[in-house]
Amino acid sequence: MSNKPESGKRTHTCGQARLEDVDETITLNGWVESIRDHGGLTFLDLRDRYGLTQVVLDPELDNSESLSQVRVEYVLSVTGQVRARPEGMRNPKLDTGDIEVAASVVEILNASEVPPFEIAESKEEPGEEIRLKYRYLDLRRQRVQKNMIFRSKVTRIIRRVLDEEQFLDLETPFLTRSTPEGARDFLVPSRVHPGGFYALPQSPQLFKQLFMIAGFDRYYQIVRCMRDEDLRADRQPEFTQLDIEMAFVSEEDIQALIDRLLCRLFDELLGVEVALPIPRMGYDEAMARYGSDRPDTRFELFIRDVSEEAIKTDFQVFSKAVEGGGVVRGLCVPGGASLSRKDIDGCEGIAKSFGAKGLAWVKIEAEGTKGPIAKFLGEQGEPALREAFEAKEGDLLLMVADKESVAATSLGEVRLHLGEKLDLIPEGRFDLLWITDFPLLEWSEEDQRYYACHHPFTSPRTEDLELLDEKPGEVKARAYDIILNGIELGGGSIRIHSQDVQAKVFDAIALSEEEAREKFGFLLDALSFGAPPHGGIALGLDRLVMLLLGVPSIRDVIAFPKTAKGGCMMTDAPGGVSSQQLEELFLELNLPEESSGEEGE
Ligand code: AMO
Ligand code: AMP
Repeated sequence: MSNKPESGKRTHTCGQARLEDVDETITLNGWVESIRDHGGLTFLDLRDRYGLTQVVLDPELDNSESLSQVRVEYVLSVTGQVRARPEGMRNPKLDTGDIEVAASVVEILNASEVPPFEIAESKEEPGEEIRLKYRYLDLRRQRVQKNMIFRSKVTRIIRRVLDEEQFLDLETPFLTRSTPEGARDFLVPSRVHPGGFYALPQSPQLFKQLFMIAGFDRYYQIVRCMRDEDLRADRQPEFTQLDIEMAFVSEEDIQALIDRLLCRLFDELLGVEVALPIPRMGYDEAMARYGSDRPDTRFELFIRDVSEEAIKTDFQVFSKAVEGGGVVRGLCVPGGASLSRKDIDGCEGIAKSFGAKGLAWVKIEAEGTKGPIAKFLGEQGEPALREAFEAKEGDLLLMVADKESVAATSLGEVRLHLGEKLDLIPEGRFDLLWITDFPLLEWSEEDQRYYACHHPFTSPRTEDLELLDEKPGEVKARAYDIILNGIELGGGSIRIHSQDVQAKVFDAIALSEEEAREKFGFLLDALSFGAPPHGGIALGLDRLVMLLLGVPSIRDVIAFPKTAKGGCMMTDAPGGVSSQQLEELFLELNLPEESSGEEGE
């Protein structure tokens, strides 16, 4: 046949051959997924990233002796004729399931040790520790490979859409100075500048603003960011952002761009239609109704303020809280009267771990309102509360009396817990939401000063500028977050482009002129050379891919992720360095007693 290969080089992938190819001689290269001996004939499945093809080995093959050594994960080149599988032997689950390849030449390209876990799809998922130690084998598994291939499709679509929208893909440095995202920096000591340190970027924030000042007006980058912070299922010390900045735009322009981009991603990857525009909700409403600035809107169960009704009760906790400037808020859990004491204690535990002093509860039962505080509700308070909650028989009322932020946050967490526990979250639903009108500054009781909620380059709302001196806590920012199913997918803002306003904001967060110059002098200078109005956003790419795929952890969508302690199981990073390396960097270690400088997992 004309296309008969000479060298064992593949003519087809393992996912390619179909009935149309019957009688052709083809060559496949791949890994042995499985071997089955059927009385003389050996069947094996050959795998590559495109799929699996069944290969039949005849005992008459020249090298059948050495082929008897072949085990799973050996790398083979197989040349043979495509033939239709007999009726009844076809496998509709495989794309190549109608055919098989009758091998005429089989070459062993490489042998393999027995892998520490099964690469073929198996019922039992290997433990994460062993998977991360042998991540290259884990990545060979179809289930993990599929995630990485999906991720590549996501970035391809992003690049295509942004290219169509005239964006430039520009790079920014990794060895730089501290950036202001608020996490701890990873530092890199300089050999050439003794005692000098670079900080790895927490984001390209300042550089992308400089691009706007340089006139590049539409910038994007798919870029790694490094933050030394405590890890969670949706956090890694190094993660990827889709980072965007635009000049001469308003927040609506940036939101509309992200609307279009997400719409394309959902459509092309999942066939899911996103209704545009993506809805918007103010920060105040999100906090009041959901107790969170990243509300999970896939289920109802709203928080209600019942301060007015609660003071009609005889429960001192309620009246004292309200008198002291606090609030009483609560949830009416439909059907919640059937929850056990243990379940309710569980809710109280959650509320307490988020600062609440307790969780008052009553059940609305046929015989009346029951529960430890029922007797304190009184003749006026009881019906008033029921009405405020629109409570029905069978419902459970949960209430927190505290200052507003504690009541909101603690009930927000109880709400999320109940959403899962009571199965209120519909499968397969994607709820996208913009949160807008964030406060600019946030007061820290601990440090007795304001901090920027987003970062200190975020523009205050023009109409709030006057408040900056007198009531800084009331100033709203031109900032926005995009939320997907209760997870913060991205955030951004319109930036300050005037040196004066920037100085005022630094002042409000108690950053002295000296300190500001020392940290961000180059940006302040740049703002004085014709900075255009500009703004941007960054989306967490790992989170986006995780949510689109519906997998539980961002480790599932990162090729070589770190463990919860920030270590790499495969390379054993972070590791020690030689004393010579330390000397070259003019560094000396000063370790706490029990630490050896290496991290135990
Ligand atoms: P921000 O700090 O909100 O904004 O980060 C943007 C998005 O990045 C993702 N993200 C993370 N993902 C995984 N692991 C982490 N440790 C992690 N930290 C953040 C989140 C988040 O929404 N420069 C600004 C953006 C701007 O103003 O344009 C910034 O970095 O999905
Ligand atoms: P106590 O009087 O402390 O035994 O509390 C009686 C009930 O009120 C318990 O269920 C507590 O969880 C609850 N409780 C106490 N403090 C608060 C509060 N600040 N807000 C809501 N419930 C509270």
